[in-house]
Amino acid sequence: MPAFAKDCLQGKTVLIAGGLGAIGRVVVSALLEHSARVAVNDVLSVEHAGQLGKDLAWPSERFVYVRADVTRPEGAEELARKTLEAFGSLEVALCHAGMAHSCPILQYSEAEWDRIMDLNLKSAFLVAQASARAMVERGINGGCSLYPMD
Ligand SMILES: NC(=O)c1ccc[n+]([C@@H]2O[C@H](COP(=O)([O-])OP(=O)(O)OC[C@H]3O[C@@H](n4cnc5c(N)ncnc54)[C@H](O)[C@@H]3O)[C@@H](O)[C@H]2O)c1
Repeated sequence: MPAFAKDCLQGKTVLIAGGLGAIGRVVVSALLEHSARVAVNDVLSVEHAGQLGKDLAWPSERFVYVRADVTRPEGAEELARKTLEAFGSLEVALCHAGMAHSCPILQYSEAEWDRIMDLNLKSAFLVAQASARAMVERGINGGCSLYPMD
């Protein structure tokens, strides 16, 4: 017996930053299987997202792709705005944009450190803040998850 009913997310809208990544695409598939509407964000091309959506049989009426760089406030705001434009609501924000970078500390540049921190940490803050703002403005009692982060 499945842990959750297939329609347990019916009527709920979820946005997911970094949603075309290894973890993100599995999460997107699971959300769609449970009837959610999903706004998927990444920096990959629209063609790449469309092909992946077809390959994974994501239903086009409940899936929209938002190409945006969520390390920038404008990118995170665009993600929240386009989610609302597409589906008219936003209940859950998931922050999955990130990357791992292992390097001996003596070779680790400050610029690289800043790049990783912007992607793994700041993007989660920006997506959470933009989403929370959109939810509060519309009186939506939603939530945001910052996992996974390195
Ligand atoms: N795979 C694991 O076992 C694991 C375990 C723990 C934590 N993590 C961390 O979780 C995060 C996601 O893991 P993953 O395996 O799915 O990684 P991934 O590299 O497959 O996916 C990350 C996605 O983020 C996207 N992205 C990069 N920069 C972006 C930006 N500026 N704006 C929007 N999207 C952007 C990438 O294009 C990619 O699709 C990473 O930080 C990873 O280090 C992974």
